[in-house]
Amino acid sequence: RNPDLGPWKTAPARQMTLNREFGMDALPRQLYNKAKKTPFPLNIMVVGETGLGKSTFMNTLFQADLKDTTELKVPQDTKTVEITPVSYELEEDGVTLKLCVVDTPGFGDRVNRAADLEPILAYIDAQYNAYHEAEKSKAFRAAICDTRIHVCIYFLAPTGHRLKELDIAALRVLSSKVNVIPVIAKADGLTAQEKATFKKAISEDLEINEITTYPTSFENDIEGLEELKQHIPFTVIGSTDLVQVKDKMVRGREYRWGSVEVENPLHCDFIYLRELLMAHCLHDLVQLTHHHHYHTHRSGLLCGPDRPASLLICDEEYDTFMEDAKTNVFQDMTSREEAMRQQFVQRVRDTEQTLKKREEALQQKREVLMKELEDQRRQIEIAEREFQSMQLQTSVR
Ligand code: GTP
Repeated sequence: RNPDLGPWKTAPARQMTLNREFGMDALPRQLYNKAKKTPFPLNIMVVGETGLGKSTFMNTLFQADLKDTTELKVPQDTKTVEITPVSYELEEDGVTLKLCVVDTPGFGDRVNRAADLEPILAYIDAQYNAYHEAEKSKAFRAAICDTRIHVCIYFLAPTGHRLKELDIAALRVLSSKVNVIPVIAKADGLTAQEKATFKKAISEDLEINEITTYPTSFENDIEGLEELKQHIPFTVIGSTDLVQVKDKMVRGREYRWGSVEVENPLHCDFIYLRELLMAHCLHDLVQLTHHHHYHTHRSGLLCGPDRPASLLICDEEYDTFMEDAKTNVFQDMTSREEAMRQQFVQRVRDTEQTLKKREEALQQKREVLMKELEDQRRQIEIAEREFQSMQLQTSVR
């Protein structure tokens, strides 16, 4: 007899043995056939400072020149950073991937870097709102054009130090809204030792600042990914060029001293990131976006007429971090100014010392020369006197 579970609970499922084949093994084929009919949507946002190789990385990831395409018309509200969503259709083995790459050029370019986040967050929210509106009017979820961000790849500069304040603030806010995967860009600029130290520092900073990143912070999704987990945060190298390595042509970057290969695990973690994204977590990213991030946003929308509670919490957090970031930037600038002032004073002192030493040396040289001159003058006088006396003697004779 089942215990009283209440109206909302169901009894635990009973284990059954099938007497004959039921056809459940055809389920993956059914899903595959469904995927063949309906394009699979994947919206990737790339965020990071200018020139960190975001576009090159996307081209490398999809092994295509993601350029000649039509712009996707999606609701957006931009102020400073220019949000550029571009859609592509990629087909493999009959399955179509409807890829939308949302670039954020200009992020981190201005003095007020915190403000750069606003249009990005506004864009993310606008997609959730658009989906929510469509959900109200459309009977089937499949009929809704999904422009929500499924994953945000956040590019970190290969500084080799700790996370910057801007990155911490941005990662905290972004990760509360979307799945975020931080990557270390242009990893060919770091030695193996630097990579290891930088990865450790980043992991510590993520933990200290309670930043949830994908898949580390989502235990269900990390299952079976132990091998990949060791390489997080991933280092990446982007290149659209082929270089010759032994007798093969591979994607890489050629330098005077040799070449780096994008897909060589000794050079960077590109293959692990690609495996995580494409082979393991593509579907999970979309599901997690819908069931976790979108639902958090939607419950916020539903619980308050003006500002959703979840967003208020998020905003408070955002404001605190922005304030902290501003204070830190101010302190940083003040200490840098002080360091520069001290450096300047030291330089002036050094120059004064050098000039004083030179003056002393010149004075000594002058004294030696004057002494030599005086000696010469005396010798000339003696010689002159001798000459005059000789002349006198000659005339007397
Ligand atoms: P914006 O669109 O202006 O924000 O730049 P981006 O981040 O998209 O950078 P982009 O892909 O345009 O690359 C900028 C420069 O960096 C180009 O000259 C690339 O060839 C170079 N680059 C890209 N990836 C790498 C990399 O992994 N290592 C090195 N050394 N250079 C790279």
